[in-house]
Amino acid sequence: MSFSADWLTLREPFDRRARNVAVLDAVASAFSRRPSVSVVDLACGTGSTLRALTERLPKTQAWRLVDNDLGLLARAASLAAPPTRTVSAVAIDLARDLEFALDGPIELVTTSALLDLVSQDWLERLVTEVAARGLPVYAALSYDGLATLDPVDPLDGAVIGAVNQHQRTDKGFGPALGPAAAATAPERFRAVGYAVNEGPSDWVFATKDADIQRDILNGWAAAAREMGGLSIDEIIGWLTRRHDLIAAGRSAMRVGHVDFFATPTGTR
Ligand SMILES: C[S@@+](CC[C@H](N)C(=O)[O-])C[C@H]1O[C@@H](n2cnc3c(N)ncnc32)[C@H](O)[C@@H]1O
Repeated sequence: MSFSADWLTLREPFDRRARNVAVLDAVASAFSRRPSVSVVDLACGTGSTLRALTERLPKTQAWRLVDNDLGLLARAASLAAPPTRTVSAVAIDLARDLEFALDGPIELVTTSALLDLVSQDWLERLVTEVAARGLPVYAALSYDGLATLDPVDPLDGAVIGAVNQHQRTDKGFGPALGPAAAATAPERFRAVGYAVNEGPSDWVFATKDADIQRDILNGWAAAAREMGGLSIDEIIGWLTRRHDLIAAGRSAMRVGHVDFFATPTGTR
């Protein structure tokens, strides 16, 4: 599955605003007494997690940015680095070579908007591999399946239902956890003795946030079409009504996400 740099750029300010501050504070506090930190960011895209976290970590930072999309990696690699921060961009297919991404002198694993794309098996692999290395994990922006549109349209429920079904299809890691990732991932880390600090990180789009609403709703319409439960006429009718509301400055949306920071406790 590919993600365009334009889409990641459009969503980044909303992701940034949505990231749970208490969870970010927990990450910062875990490293506040260290002189330096080495981070691997899994599925880095253009580097939004680095940008969200860098000011909260010790000044001396080494980032390994991992993705399998070379175009996104090239953008991430060109991040202007202050002298105290090194950034290396590494092309890895995480579905195949997760272990390779985690090897070496890593002290913190980060990721965002990834865990809803992965399968239960891949999540188990991640949990096993990071637990074996005793690494803390900051995972942001996992979709939780709860989306609301204002004003309500009679077909919203059916479209969102189809989107949630689509979220569970294979995104390159096997059948995806989709909305289940938000609850399952923290639970799996607790099961191996991690302490988990978690909180909501919902996208909240106001009436003025027209471009991102339009992009998301177009994507939802495409997902509903693929799932096949609604007719094309129903989907086009729904999308037209929603676009009209956006154009009239009357559409608002909330899309649920969860962030967590999981740290090994050594009790297992
Ligand atoms: C929703 S984007 C999130 C990007 C970034 N973390 C962010 O929050 O902006 C998902 C990312 O996963 C990457 N990805 C998908 N499948 C992958 C795989 N098999 N191996 C490595 N990266 C993958 C995509 O290239 C994309 O950058």
